[in-house]
Amino acid sequence: MPENDPQHATAEAHTPTWSGPLPLRGGRALPGCLWLAPLTNLQSPDQGRLSDTERDWLLSRADGGLQVIETCAAYVHPDGQAWPGQLGVATAEQCSALRPLVEGLAARGAAGLVQLFHGGARADRALTGQPTWSLSRFEEASKGFVPPEAATEERLLAVISEQATAAARVEAVGFAGVELHAAHGYLLGQALSTVSNTRDDQWGGSLENRARLLRESVRAVRAATGPGFILGVRLSPEDMGQAKGLDLDESLQVAAWLAEDGVDFLHLSLWDCAKNTAKRPDQHPIPLFRAAVGEQVALVAAGAIWTAEDVDRAFALGADAVAVGKAAIGHQDWAAQLERGETPSRPPFTAEHLKQNSVSEVFINYLSKFRGFVAAG
Ligand SMILES: Cc1cc2nc3c(=O)[nH]c(=O)nc-3n(C[C@H](O)[C@H](O)[C@H](O)COP(=O)(O)O)c2cc1C
Repeated sequence: MPENDPQHATAEAHTPTWSGPLPLRGGRALPGCLWLAPLTNLQSPDQGRLSDTERDWLLSRADGGLQVIETCAAYVHPDGQAWPGQLGVATAEQCSALRPLVEGLAARGAAGLVQLFHGGARADRALTGQPTWSLSRFEEASKGFVPPEAATEERLLAVISEQATAAARVEAVGFAGVELHAAHGYLLGQALSTVSNTRDDQWGGSLENRARLLRESVRAVRAATGPGFILGVRLSPEDMGQAKGLDLDESLQVAAWLAEDGVDFLHLSLWDCAKNTAKRPDQHPIPLFRAAVGEQVALVAAGAIWTAEDVDRAFALGADAVAVGKAAIGHQDWAAQLERGETPSRPPFTAEHLKQNSVSEVFINYLSKFRGFVAAG
């Protein structure tokens, strides 16, 4: 029996602990349940090759006790780049440049996951020099938005194999796995959405068709990588910000399909883990997604996790792991502070405080866009 055959693989119901490990289906595992969330940081300006600054930022969070480190969204093709200084995994050279990160994580007992990304309509034409494309042309009221071109089927098939190639390359470099970024309204999220995907061929229309790009990407990544390689998907369960045209029940169905397709984990981008769903205000998303995916798929929850109580609440609701963004930006030793029973301070943080926490000037400037995070002056 192939070890990664989703029909046969098993994973026992898991009781998360702060010190891990996190068992996954098919005998795979990660070293822990406290993760660094994927965080765009603009710190790799040399043609998407991992810079020492970005490496050190990620390693500092492993030093601080996080056991699984996700990279920022990393583009799988140059026409998918959405930010200046964004990490790329589109070429063999970009993937090889990640080796010092993998080695540093291994030396710290942490595991690395690369978040595979294509911006679709949200790629930046000024950076890529290419027209933007998505599943279909759509309009958006946001400032500077240019409607994307509708992709040919050939381009959709190509982006599936670009993700698979990137996954195989980062596996060869030594990463534990990848996460496909289907949250927040980028290419894979645009495919799932009824607003941005109005195609009438096999890639649009019914939910089955809108989920095709994501599911085929999952299958292609599995086929291109070995049985020990970990594969997860990040989803936005409902409309939030740029993620539009989503419905909770459709997202639950997509989650159930992804479980059938053999993903190891589903990462729920919730923005606030304390909140119930918009569609069913008396229900929290974590138990709903647990029911959808069963026990075989690990559930990772992200959004406003700050204190030990926040972590324990997410675990009690059924999450197997939590991914932390802003708290880990503000405190390079966030996990260690929690272990010591401390309560990490909250924003706004001064630029000086952030620098002392291994956050570079470039990243601090980017963080200034997030209201209330960086102290004025
Ligand atoms: C500066 C910044 C960059 C982010 N970049 C990404 C990204 O590259 N990919 C992604 O899926 N989410 C990204 N997010 C969302 C975070 O992963 C996380 O889900 C969100 O910040 C909520 O968690 P938190 O309250 O712990 O920060 C980003 C968030 C911030 C604040």
